[in-house]
Amino acid sequence: LDGRVEREPFAPVRPGMEVRVDGQVRHLVAPVLALMFHKPAGLVVHGSDAEGVGTVFECLRERLTPPLRDHEWLAVGRLDRDTTGLLLFTNDERLVQHGTSPERHLPKRYVAGVVGPPPEEALRRLREGLVLEDGPTRPAGARLRAPDVVELTLTEGRNHQVKRMLAAVGHPVRTLHREAVGGVTLDVPEGAWRLLTDGEVTQGLSFALS
Ligand code: URA
Repeated sequence: LDGRVEREPFAPVRPGMEVRVDGQVRHLVAPVLALMFHKPAGLVVHGSDAEGVGTVFECLRERLTPPLRDHEWLAVGRLDRDTTGLLLFTNDERLVQHGTSPERHLPKRYVAGVVGPPPEEALRRLREGLVLEDGPTRPAGARLRAPDVVELTLTEGRNHQVKRMLAAVGHPVRTLHREAVGGVTLDVPEGAWRLLTDGEVTQGLSFALS
């Protein structure tokens, strides 16, 4: 597998890995799968659960049935423990890289309940970009949906970025929800999941299936 000898019969073989048997390349038919999961608050997006609060991976696995349960599901990016909303999973590492790549600029739409109401000047700063500890932010979409609810669309995904941007303009986040990534919009209830269509993967996420 990828140039090393694997003796473990149940070792995972992921899409994109080179597989040789007795030196001959074998082409595996491994479809790229992707799903949307509506993350509830309280779960961490980590493989390990140091705090014992539950991970999204365990929660998703409990809800999947074979054969989908048998795949190794990778999260496409992260959400904070208290953030709810759209979290994508896939069995394909290339799709993880694609979805999280800083160069790709896939838009991610968030809805933040804030200590408000933010004036137009704060929204303008969010739109134009502001300087955080780790550098300037890219221009963003920002508008008010209600006096204390801001819709923020980012084309980058730095750690705690929404919370840091809103805190920087003086309107700390109280609640945070992600409702879209690229052209894929969350449409399942909290705790539920569904597979993405090929069209959502290729057009919605601009990812070439091949
Ligand atoms: N920005 C944040 O601050 N938190 C998230 O979970 C996602 C984006």
